Amino acid sequence: MKMIFATGNAGKLREASEILGEGFELVTPASFGITEDIPEDGDTLEANSAQKADYIHERTGLDCFADDTGLEVDCLDGAPGVYTARYAGPGHRFEDNMDKLLKEMALKGPDAPRTARFRSVVTLIKDGGHHVFEGVMEGRIALKKAGCGGFGYDPVFISDVYPDVTVAEIPEEAKNAISHRGKALRAMAEWLREHGDR
Ligand code: IMP
Repeated sequence: MKMIFATGNAGKLREASEILGEGFELVTPASFGITEDIPEDGDTLEANSAQKADYIHERTGLDCFADDTGLEVDCLDGAPGVYTARYAGPGHRFEDNMDKLLKEMALKGPDAPRTARFRSVVTLIKDGGHHVFEGVMEGRIALKKAGCGGFGYDPVFISDVYPDVTVAEIPEEAKNAISHRGKALRAMAEWLREHGDR
């Protein structure tokens, strides 16, 4: 089954292809000449994932899906949340975002809870209908960065499933099995199977 994944991120495309497995052929917007940044200026993960999927569907008329992810830190009242990608400001690197996060948490004091979660929302547009799937990875924020695998905030995020290491220190396959995006994408794959497409 051929579907467009509304992302320009090659790492995410590879991850999604592995998670969805055989039977899904994922293509990027670039294959349809859509090379500009897809707008995502909503106030929620749901709004952003729908906005990205709509953008691609309006331009291609094809089945597609988009994801949006936020890191929610309890002692920061759910921040950075929908601003996770640009926490340190537009155009900043992952390193800057992690440094800002560790700094903001240090300001809360040594006794502040470090619990946090990644939440992914996937919007699928199939035969013109919208379907939403969610995945969560519970964990906590490390005191300092460790590991060089994964991407984004992985060096400062410790999953409850592997409580002694950061997500940047576990193999990619192990991460996919427990990750927020993995769960949301598997829920989407399950829905597609139930609805007769696989
Ligand atoms: P996006 O909506 O998937 O682009 O995610 C927004 C931001 O969340 C990214 O820029 C990353 O900083 C962060 N993020 C998303 N997924 C992960 C992950 O699996 N590990 C670490 N950081 C992530």
